[in-house]
Formats: sequence, structure tokens, C-alpha cells
Amino acid sequence: MSSLIEGYPEYMRESIEAVARSRDRRLKETFPLIDLKEREKALNQFHPDYKTEGKRRVRLGPNKGDLAPTEVADLLEAHSLIDPREIDLSTIDLDVDILIIGGGGAGMVAALWANYTGAEPASILIVQKLRLGDANSVMSQGGIQAADRPNDNPAIHYLDTIGGGHFTNDPELVRALVMEAPSILRWHEELGVVYDREQDGSMTTLECGGTSRKRLHSCRDYTGLEIVRNLRDEVENRNIPVIEFTAAIELLMDEYGQVAGAVLYNMETQEYHIARSKSTILATGGFGRLHIQGYQTTNHYGATADGIAIAYRAGARLRDIDSVQYHPTGAAYPEQIVGLLVTEKVRSLGAQPVNKNGDLFVNPFEPRDVESAMIIRECYERKNSIETTTGMRGIWLDSPMIEAIQGEGTIRTALSAMWRLYNRFGIDMTKEPLLVFPTLHYQNGGIVINQRGETRVPGLFAAGEVTGGVHGRNRLMGNSVLDYNIFGRKAGIAAKEYAEKVKLGKLTLNHVAKYEELLTEAGIETLRRSPMLLPDYRGEKTVSHALTVL
Ligand code: FUM
Repeated sequence: MSSLIEGYPEYMRESIEAVARSRDRRLKETFPLIDLKEREKALNQFHPDYKTEGKRRVRLGPNKGDLAPTEVADLLEAHSLIDPREIDLSTIDLDVDILIIGGGGAGMVAALWANYTGAEPASILIVQKLRLGDANSVMSQGGIQAADRPNDNPAIHYLDTIGGGHFTNDPELVRALVMEAPSILRWHEELGVVYDREQDGSMTTLECGGTSRKRLHSCRDYTGLEIVRNLRDEVENRNIPVIEFTAAIELLMDEYGQVAGAVLYNMETQEYHIARSKSTILATGGFGRLHIQGYQTTNHYGATADGIAIAYRAGARLRDIDSVQYHPTGAAYPEQIVGLLVTEKVRSLGAQPVNKNGDLFVNPFEPRDVESAMIIRECYERKNSIETTTGMRGIWLDSPMIEAIQGEGTIRTALSAMWRLYNRFGIDMTKEPLLVFPTLHYQNGGIVINQRGETRVPGLFAAGEVTGGVHGRNRLMGNSVLDYNIFGRKAGIAAKEYAEKVKLGKLTLNHVAKYEELLTEAGIETLRRSPMLLPDYRGEKTVSHALTVL
């Protein structure tokens, strides 16, 4: 017997037929957006962020007393991977003006803009613990928001973003995000990114959860791949140096309290290298691979909170670190792809979330946290879900609605990556719905930055998912691709300007030694070490499929 999964199993058939039967009725139906009171109730009862379990207060450092997911608090309350006394700082292996830690979207954008504004390629160095471009940004599917249509403007984009973030965003960061968005699209097109366009040549735009205008620009459903392909080419064409399979495991400081580079660890040869730099940009991405609250994740293998851990030891402040985004539609079946992203674009094009009886129970365009909470409620309180043989629950995302609304062929054209993915498992999403459940998608909070991408530690800049403030406590679709472009650019430019002026003193790792003292003072006895670098699925922390969410 073949071990390959061929389509949906028999026990799901009855429900799939109920969904098909309700399609004609639902074509005429809309589900109202829920009112504010209902929304608060749903979030409080069902959203994983609102649970008290699985979080604790951080016991040391700049955010002492703040709540964090236990997995993040564990990494903050951990020993360094190195003993500072054993690191020889007298030999500098690499000496640059601008060190960029992380070679995903934010890191590459920062490097390019440092170069465009005058930094010589050889004065920049990108270090990446995996391969260049191997990060969450390459996996993004849906697209990038930019208010560039006649019925839209940055002020409306601003209001949508702040509203989606429950008014907890940093207003100045949001202002920068929305005002400069159209210029990012123009830059991408100059690089060669091919955005979707209409027959008349105008750019195709789509709606997303929580937006009041069609503002999402996509490259089919592989936007991240298309953008990162172009960024990587540009970095290579400009001869910006990149060292792969090399992680920063501690920041270096100088005697004046400025960040002055990093201790690097070659993950292939297991050697340490000292990289001195006048300015340092953290672009290490988020923490999705920590599987917070036991959730599956859409995230790249490298998303292990490394930047937060090393920045915190150097004195950077964090914000909203307890706020996590669960994407409403992660794959719940087949087993091989559980947790992977089913892009919001599927809903943008007309797919409806329906329960096992084929009934609509939520508007498809609620902000992500609300949409997720409503799906969890349908599965766990109302028990109107399908349960798979591994205990995974899910509701249907009725993808055949797309072609009923937009016409035959839309899915193969607009969602070609998604169609192929499911087709490999014998599921034709033009004819059958997709089983979905929320999945961990994004770190909403992170390192505090200002509009120039500066942290409060001199010489340390940050951009992209490692930072907090842009999205408040809930990000809208398409704002993360925009975020890493806007703030990657800002950090690259600001780091280049800073490097022109700064005078570095003697290198030290005293902050690491002091952090050890703080651990002792706080009475923290642990064998844990951070940064994590890569997740370990061998131990007891293997993610459960039979997730108990309530
Ligand atoms: O659903 C998506 O395609 C995800 C996009 C995003 O997180 O911005």
C-alpha cells in the first residue's frame, strides 16, 4: 500500500459534501464584522495571547517585571554560549564599518541602502547563520501593503494599521511605514520584482483582514520569493560581502558602552571569530520556532529569537514581547504540512471560512487575532470542526468559492504555489476546501527602535521582525514585508551615517560578565544557554499535534 496521502480520507467526506451543498447559498451571504464588545470577548476567551498560562514575568534586565512567553523568558534568563574570559579580543578577525547580523529581507535591504548612500561594499559585512535569503521573508506569500491607488492614501493606511494593532503601535513608526510605502514598490520594480498588474497596466490590489481599502500588492502567492530573489541578486551584483552559516552569539561592546561588533560562530567549523564594526544592525527575525503555547508554526527554521537574546544582554529594551500573532489559516491537513501557511490571499480572493456543516461563522476579513479567536471558538467551544486522526482540529476554508466568484482558472493563476502544494497530496483546491487551524506566524513585539532604526544602545540598530512597535499587538497582512523594507532602509542609512562619526574604544565583553552577575542576583539557577541558533526537535519539546488550546 502506498504511504502517500491521496486526497481527503473517507471520514471527512460527509462534511466536505455539506460544504459543497451550502456553496450556492453562501454566494449570496455575508457574515457581519463583529462589534467591539463581542470582539473583546472572543479575544479574551479564545486567543492564545490572552491566556495566563505559558507566560511569566522576566526576572532581570531592562524589562524586569514584564510578561513574556515562557519560551522567550527562558532565553533571556540563560547563560551565554561563551565564557567571556576565554575569548581573545586582541585579535580582530574581521574589521568593518557596518556589520549586519541576519541575511533575510531586513538585513539585505539594510546592506543595500548603506551601500546606495555611500558605504563601500567592502566596508559592509552580512553574517547569516543559514544561507543568504534563507529566512521568513522568502516564505512570505500574500504581499506588501502600500497606499498608491486613487481611493487610498497613507492616512487611511495609518488608521487601518493603528486600529489593527489595537492602538498600541508606536505612532511615529507607523507614520514612517505608511508614508514611504509607495517608494518601496517603485524601488522593487526598478530591481526587477514583477508585481501583479491588470490588463490596463495598473497594479492589482487586494483586500486584507482589517484593511478598509484594497491595498495589497502581490507577486501571485510567492511574493517573498520574488522580492528576495531580486534583493539577493542586488547584494551579489554589488559585491557586498556575505558570510554564511555563521551566527552572532554575542555582541561586542567598547569601553564607552558602544556596540562595536560581535562574536561570531562558524556553525560548520565551530570556530569563533571576532568581528569589529563601527555600527551593527540586528536583522535576525522573530521567534516563531519557539512554538509558543505549543502551536505549530509557519516560520522558517532559523526563527529562534537570537537577536533578542544578545541585544538584551547588551542593554536593549524590548516591548510587547508577550504579543504573538497566530495566523488564522495554517494547514490542519494533510499531516506533512500541518502548520504551514495558507495565505490570507485565499480569503482575499473569495474563500470563506466555514464550519463542518458548511455554515459561515466569521467574516473572512476580521483582523488576524479576531479571526483566529473565532476559529478556535468554533473548534473548541462550539465543536463544529473536523478532528483528524492525530487530534488536530480544523475548519474549512472553502477555496472553490474563489472560482465561483472570480471565474475558472483564477486559482491556478493567482495561487499557483498553493495549488501545487495541495495537489501534491491529491487535493484539488479548485474543487475541495482546505482544512485549517490557527498557526504561530509572527512576533509582534521586539527590540524598541526609533524612526531611524536606532536602539537605545549606541551603535546598535535593528530592523524587521526582531523589533517591536510598528505593529503594536497585532499586525495586519502585508505590513511585515513593508516593515522590513522601510526599516531595513532606515537602519542601513542611519548605521552608515553613524559609522562615519563614531570612534571606537577598547573592545570588551564586560556586559556578558555583568549579565552573569544579574542572573546570580536574581537567584536564577539554570543550565540554559542562549542564543538558541537552531531549534531542537529531539527532546520533550516536540510540538504536539493534539494541541489543547483551551
Ligand atoms: O497570509 C499571508 O500571506 C501572510 C502575509 C503576512 O503575514 O503579511
